[in-house]
Amino acid sequence: METKVRIGDISKTRADTILLGIFEGVKKLSGDLDKIDNALDGEVAKLIKQGEITGKLSETAIIHSLGKMPAGRVAIVGLGKSKELTPDTIRIAISDACRILKKKGAKHVDITLVGAGVNKIIPQVAAEAIVEGALLGLYKFNRHITKKSEPGEIKGIVLIDRESKNKPAMQRGVNTGKILAEAANLARDMVNEPSNFMTPTIMAEEAREIAEKQGLAIEVLERKQMKEMGMGALLGVAQGSEEPPKFIVLKYLGKTTKTIDIALVGKGITFDSGGISLKPSDNMGDMKSDMAGAASVIAAIGAIAQFKPKVNVIAVVAATENMPSGTALKPADVLTAMNGKTIEIISTDAEGRVILADALGYANKQGAKRIVDIATLTGACIVALGDVATGAFTNNQALLDKVMAASNDVGDRIWQMPTFDEYKEQNKSDVADLKNTGGRKGGAITAALFVGEFAEKTPWVHLDIAGTGFLDKPKGYYCKGATGVPTRALIKLVLSLAAK
Ligand code: BES
Ligand code: MN
Ligand code: ZN
Repeated sequence: METKVRIGDISKTRADTILLGIFEGVKKLSGDLDKIDNALDGEVAKLIKQGEITGKLSETAIIHSLGKMPAGRVAIVGLGKSKELTPDTIRIAISDACRILKKKGAKHVDITLVGAGVNKIIPQVAAEAIVEGALLGLYKFNRHITKKSEPGEIKGIVLIDRESKNKPAMQRGVNTGKILAEAANLARDMVNEPSNFMTPTIMAEEAREIAEKQGLAIEVLERKQMKEMGMGALLGVAQGSEEPPKFIVLKYLGKTTKTIDIALVGKGITFDSGGISLKPSDNMGDMKSDMAGAASVIAAIGAIAQFKPKVNVIAVVAATENMPSGTALKPADVLTAMNGKTIEIISTDAEGRVILADALGYANKQGAKRIVDIATLTGACIVALGDVATGAFTNNQALLDKVMAASNDVGDRIWQMPTFDEYKEQNKSDVADLKNTGGRKGGAITAALFVGEFAEKTPWVHLDIAGTGFLDKPKGYYCKGATGVPTRALIKLVLSLAAK
């Protein structure tokens, strides 16, 4: 979809549809809305009076202009109460309005700078939120549907404002919003792909394409190199699958120095059957999404490169299937991770923390100054926080504060969980340094602390996206299936770390 900025009068534009916003409780029209109302002989005011337009968040009215204006249709979307307006309510309203307009066959939609100037929302931020809302909301995964039934796509949106002094800020907002949303949509595509279309090999190819396009360095380690590096944990999980595992490293260097400011580490289980500790068959297919962490770090670093920030970043992905077979890992087996720590396998279904052990080991070996890992790690995190918030864990509050600020910035909910030392007792094994499950109590926390053992002294944040990475029903600008969370937050985080 094309995204543009134009300075001018929205009542004069020739797009098939124009889109404006209205706050809840507005009785007297002003600005563009007043102008449009006049052009439509008072139709907008009439609909407000009749209660068809109330301004409630996302309520969308469509008025046909019947030749009274160049645009064929005027859409008015509710923005909710003006006091409660945030960039996220702008995203939600624009997303919902665009979805409705798409269904009605709109092809070109011109949008006013909805929300700018309210609650200290500056034009750049409003423009960014509008573009994000449109692109995220209109996302659809239909690659494998041969007969497309929808009326077609919205081909372009144009942001319009009267003030020419706003143009550079609007353009910056549009560019940023587009990179963020397209990165999230790329992550969504990878996660929504069934596992026969997103094997570790295909994931590595996809990473290679992104690296080429964005000018990133890439390295893909094969089994043989994993062995040489001592990645016994990842190899242990991978040994039950016919699909070869891949260890994918993407590198963006924005500085002349070589030190890695941050490593973004993703869990890349392309299918989690549970292994020998086989999962029940109900909804097992959802486990194609067990590489959502990997998708988010690959998409994020591709977007980061486009901003050219002065920061050095690596994205690290341990990719494998988790399968049962004659060669598969078994409960009570003991593995040795890259950093020398030994792991007793209690459940082969607690595979995420095991492969992350080597991914964090690698990030540490590269000398990363900070590590953020992202994983669909535990059902326990879904029990604790539902699909509303990502669970966050850390050994360094300052780093987590930055991650939370970046999440809030993009509208994603995140909630800090405790990491008290007492929980570590549950990860102690009789036969090895650690065991891979700590029992039912505090399952998300013990899993996080297991991963933290491999961050060692490095400032580290763990994000459990088991609930937020993949949804069973649509929510706001997220549709059913992959959300792309936390791709946009990771991009904002890294930009916030960059030297000015
Ligand atoms: N990938 C799952 C966690 C998960 C569950 C993600 C549901 C998204 C939705 C993970 O590998 C897993 O199976 N975890 C087990 C751990 C248990 C065996 C200690 C779990 O949470 O049940
Ligand atoms: Mn599992
Ligand atoms: Zn898993």
